[in-house]
Amino acid sequence: MEIFLDSANLREIEKWLAQGVVDGVTTNPSVLLKDGGFDMEERARQVAALVNPRPVSVEVTTNDLEEMLTQARTLAAWAPNIVIKIPVINEHGAPCLGVVKTLTQEGIKVNLTACLSFGQLVLGAKAGATYISIFAGRVSDEGGDAPLLIGQSADWLREWGYPSRIIVGSIRGVIDIQQAAIAGAHIITIPPQLLDKMADHKYTRDTVRGFVQDARKALERVEELRAQARR
Ligand code: E4P
Repeated sequence: MEIFLDSANLREIEKWLAQGVVDGVTTNPSVLLKDGGFDMEERARQVAALVNPRPVSVEVTTNDLEEMLTQARTLAAWAPNIVIKIPVINEHGAPCLGVVKTLTQEGIKVNLTACLSFGQLVLGAKAGATYISIFAGRVSDEGGDAPLLIGQSADWLREWGYPSRIIVGSIRGVIDIQQAAIAGAHIITIPPQLLDKMADHKYTRDTVRGFVQDARKALERVEELRAQARR
């Protein structure tokens, strides 16, 4: 299983790359806005350079299907590791699967995004999406069972031999990460603050504190014994 960072914060990306746990990055217009990436091209190029050769997802920003294709080709030319996020439908409900098919045929990798149902995943796999993003938090918001959806989706892709890989996004808590991993997610994209929480545990800190204190006491004892021996 891979871990992506759901972030456009360069410092956080550098920090987690150095920890050796990041296999890629996802962004969307809201993430870029939150992390101060107002100039999408500048920030996407910076993130892509930082994580190269790992993939970075960057999303198109239009409802028009023809314009999606034009934007996607432009975004993909910014860096070789940029993957294009195409929503499964636009905000008016028009399927964007033809855009996925055309881009895939052109050799541009697509992350089919904003997927909330098994049916959307099936269509995305058939259209040739490299990645399919299931928004677990938003599935749960609507009363859906996100781990069940992830598990059934992973099983179906395997059973029918589709190469699309599931990215579980819209992660709201550490429990969502754990449930997605157990359910069979291929990739989970995680906001950096949740990686901090995932690593942390109060009792681990207490445990390490105890070991450090005891190591210091042992050292003091060695020094006392050596001093006694010299007398
Ligand atoms: C990741 O690819 C998604 O864009 C992101 O996780 C969505 O998260 P949200 O539901 O918190 O907006």
